[in-house]
Amino acid sequence: MHHFTYRNGRLHAEDVDLVSLAQKVGTPFYCYSTATLTRHYQVFQKSLSGLDAMICFAMKANSNQAVLKTFARLGAGVDVVSEGELRRARQAGISGQKITFSGVGKTDQEIRLALEENIFCFNVESVPELHAISRIATGMNKTASISIRVNPDVDAKTHHKISTGKSENKFGIPISEARSVYREASQMPGLAISGVDMHIGSQITDLSPFEDAFELLADFVKQLRSDGHHIDHLDLGGGLGIPYTDDHDPNSYHPDHYAAIVKKHVGSLGCKLVFEPGRMLVGNAGILVCQVIYIKQGDAKSFVIVDAAMNDLVRPTLYDAYHEIRPIIEAGPDSQKSLVDVVGPVCESGDFLAQGRLLPPVSQGDLLAIYSAGAYGAVQAGTYNSRLLIPEVLVHASDWAIVRPRPSYEALIGLDRIPVWLE
Ligand code: LLP
Repeated sequence: MHHFTYRNGRLHAEDVDLVSLAQKVGTPFYCYSTATLTRHYQVFQKSLSGLDAMICFAMKANSNQAVLKTFARLGAGVDVVSEGELRRARQAGISGQKITFSGVGKTDQEIRLALEENIFCFNVESVPELHAISRIATGMNKTASISIRVNPDVDAKTHHKISTGKSENKFGIPISEARSVYREASQMPGLAISGVDMHIGSQITDLSPFEDAFELLADFVKQLRSDGHHIDHLDLGGGLGIPYTDDHDPNSYHPDHYAAIVKKHVGSLGCKLVFEPGRMLVGNAGILVCQVIYIKQGDAKSFVIVDAAMNDLVRPTLYDAYHEIRPIIEAGPDSQKSLVDVVGPVCESGDFLAQGRLLPPVSQGDLLAIYSAGAYGAVQAGTYNSRLLIPEVLVHASDWAIVRPRPSYEALIGLDRIPVWLE
């Protein structure tokens, strides 16, 4: 459930009229709803009640500091995957003790910074990374708390580009080898084994892969304990899917069902449980507002050309993702829908936001809302075709604020430097 609803035929974000917001901010822009962010966090938290749980928002999904602060106030930590994310999280006031650090390619500099910030845990993805953390921690006279990310070779049944728990994926250490890696880690200086980590993929709507993975994980924890390791926490990653369409029944993958699977398999191991939800918290809390520039009647198709493009929201072309699109001025009940492609101005045929989509009549100048754009939207944007990054707006009841302004062309172009021989 989200807080983008029509009132008197005009789409609102909470109590903010999006037509007037668009006039003030200019299109295109991302718009997030505080009430929706809060609701999603609380629904997830409530599902986990009775467990010793720590929610570390996977900030790769949306790293705006206003979003981070919204979650931090609710008690959340974050999962980071880079120095940039770690710095942003700290700047948003999140304590190191609520930060996990994931990712296959942590550099020495990133490891050093994370140790300085006394993060909760490194989720280690390879033996060379273990050696690096051990070397750096020892040099700094510190002890790094570590979990090893195990790869259970379970098919998450999601898009192949966002599946991470199969043996052919670059992530984690095969669960079959992980026991000996824990043994190795226990002998390295500067490391304190504290947990086990796993993340099998994203946008998971059939929960059976979680069943399979958590069952393997529980067995694995028992093996580790019998080997004498101290396993205080389990990091179960993120991955819970969200509805992108209205006709999709989200009940089967409601957080309550997910939590029941967690409780069944790992609830009685006496471990603190860490969760890294990303999309589930922010996906449906954001929309992308854009404006129709032209309508173009092709031979084979009709094109609605809008001012947002693949550089602003890459998900449709990168993952064949479906995002609901609705006019900001509500279409009448009798309006005739027709098949169109919604495309941007970027010079690539892959630049589309929707293909073969049934939309009510739209005209030049109309405003459109692209739904479910709060996760992996703004964070995956770029400046291809020398287009400016678009603003992000956070709404809170009838208040709103630009939480990332549109940069100037001077700032964009001014990043280039002319070498002396061309001056
Ligand atoms: N933890 C780790 C270690 C991850 O790699 C990810 C996502 C998450 C947590 C959060 O997963 P979530 O709860 O959001 O499913 N850009 C793609 C999704 C990439 C997901 C990458 N890892 C998309 O737009 O669908």
